[in-house]
Amino acid sequence: MKVPFLDLSRAHQALRTEILESFAATYDAGRFCLGDDVTAFESAFAAASGTDAVVGVGNGTAALHLVARALGIGPGDDVVVPAFTFIASAWTASYVGARPIFCDVDPTTFTVTAETIAAALTPKTKAVVVVHLFGQSADMDPILELAASRGIPVIEDCAQAHLATYRGRPVGTMGVAGTFSFYPTKNLGGVGEGGAVVSSNSEVLDRVKLLRVHGSNVRYQHDDVGYNYRMEGLQAGALTVKLKHLENYTAGRRAVAQKYREGIQLKDVTLPQTVEWGESVYHQFTLLHPNRDGLRAHLTACGVGTDLIYPRALHQQPCYAAVGPAEGSLPVAEKLARDCLSLPIFPELTAAEIAHVVESVNSFEG
Ligand SMILES: Cc1ncc(COP(=O)(O)O)c(C=O)c1O
Repeated sequence: MKVPFLDLSRAHQALRTEILESFAATYDAGRFCLGDDVTAFESAFAAASGTDAVVGVGNGTAALHLVARALGIGPGDDVVVPAFTFIASAWTASYVGARPIFCDVDPTTFTVTAETIAAALTPKTKAVVVVHLFGQSADMDPILELAASRGIPVIEDCAQAHLATYRGRPVGTMGVAGTFSFYPTKNLGGVGEGGAVVSSNSEVLDRVKLLRVHGSNVRYQHDDVGYNYRMEGLQAGALTVKLKHLENYTAGRRAVAQKYREGIQLKDVTLPQTVEWGESVYHQFTLLHPNRDGLRAHLTACGVGTDLIYPRALHQQPCYAAVGPAEGSLPVAEKLARDCLSLPIFPELTAAEIAHVVESVNSFEG
């Protein structure tokens, strides 16, 4: 049996008629860049994700860039960024000429903690980026306390954590702003690029809105140097259709994770840890194994698709060679990059496919 790492076509086929109907409506009305479909999606996403206000943008990277600009981060500033995340989290600093200071992560949640952040603070720290990695919210209370004591804003990168909560509070609502990605593979994914900024700080949100459209609120008057980071109407339509299913999709991901937890018995494997402050929404189900490459080869031979997310920590990336810190300085992030292996996790996986993944993992003799 073959089990794909990810098969988006299953969800897309199920929603084909509805999404194409939404495209037809947008097409016929010519609402291509921002417009009513985007406004409707912004309201629907705000309601679904428990946030005050949402600004739809072109993608999750643009969302982080806009927040960095809105907070006035720039050259000479430092921004604390987890060393184990997708590279775009670090662009938050780099796009505005600031320096990313990479910090280590917790070995059980893979997210930053107050301790790992504290070790990376400098007199020039202007912001902290917290990533709710793989769908698991970070332990926010100690982080918020630390940040408040230093007067440093927290940016929540929620690209992988739609509908995740921390002690009942939705991700994205605890820091000064939160950012989301709607890249097709995300828990809520469009059929192209998409992203959003959420915030209850009206000053930040107003700046994000201004910068999203060329720094302009009045036609051909540009109050700031801005960007073309508009969300597209066609994407907003598709996202509004998919949003209605997000709770079910999340339940589906959690059910797959539960089956993996119950079934996987392989010696020396570390499964993602559960925590008391909030259940993961399982953007990924990432395990650790000391012979990760051997296990991966075995799973490939069994027909099970896997991925390495992420095989390099950010301070090990060529583009940050001059930024550092040196190899060996962030041991947890480096170990995760060495040992992590992500299994298939998407809501449409069948019971037979899940069972095959479990049996294949358990039959590894390496
Ligand atoms: C943690 C994280 N931050 C930011 C991004 C950037 O989002 P996008 O691909 O929509 O630009 C992604 C997704 O790729 C991500 O996983």
